[in-house]
Amino acid sequence: MSAIKPTQRISPARFRKGEVPIVCLTAYTAPMARLLDPHVDMLLVGDSLGMVVYGFDSTLPVTLDMAINHGKAVMRGSTRACVIIDLPFGTYQESPQQAFRTSARVMAETGCSGVKLEGGTEMAETISFLVQRGIPVLGHIGLEPQSVNALGGYRARGRTDSEAEAILADAKAVAEAGAFSMVVEGVLEPLARKITEAVTVPTIGIGASPDCDGQVLVIDDLLGISGMTPKFVKRYAELGTVIESAVTAFAEEVRERRFPTLEYCYVPKAK
Ligand code: KIV
Repeated sequence: MSAIKPTQRISPARFRKGEVPIVCLTAYTAPMARLLDPHVDMLLVGDSLGMVVYGFDSTLPVTLDMAINHGKAVMRGSTRACVIIDLPFGTYQESPQQAFRTSARVMAETGCSGVKLEGGTEMAETISFLVQRGIPVLGHIGLEPQSVNALGGYRARGRTDSEAEAILADAKAVAEAGAFSMVVEGVLEPLARKITEAVTVPTIGIGASPDCDGQVLVIDDLLGISGMTPKFVKRYAELGTVIESAVTAFAEEVRERRFPTLEYCYVPKAK
């Protein structure tokens, strides 16, 4: 990844098995994309934005317009990273044709490099339909948050032999259908490792395994501002605490009339 020019975006085709681990983070806004862009290979405009930005209790209410608008913001804030946008629930599962129409709109309106969609064997036909028509697809298997109601919660998956076999079959189907890479979310570690060994495209783990070909986290979790710390999240900063003390200081100074001092006002110059 290091040989690329700073103004040239990393293309999905650059992600190959066996190269340095892929660094991926979610981003939903231009300022955050600007901060992350020099440091990551991929920026994912995940539908986690529904929970992180809008306060929904699942990703299901995210609309295509939300994904596109946040995708445009992330594109404006970045120049280097490969930007991938999640297809929201209900905008692609009906048919390969529906998935194509949705993806084409996402790609044309945002200029992003590809789309992500959830699902395994049942989505293989759709993935192949999109890939054959020029749309790079990032798969997403294991814990699929858009299926939270069918799965009965966000518990790690692959705990029984039959579930583990089905997830491994999903991974193989997604790779064979032509996805350039796949997110492996919330599966037992040995299964994530087995999937990574079994498929020919890079895996990007979240709550998966150190042996995945890359790792992704939700940026607000990593920075300590989401209020959520699932087991798989390492908080690299406690920005929630930093924000709280900054805002407490501001409120105190305003109430005590200590802010603004004249230093922060437009004072006419003496004539
Ligand atoms: O929506 C999202 O942000 C995701 C990542 C957590 C992989 O799917």
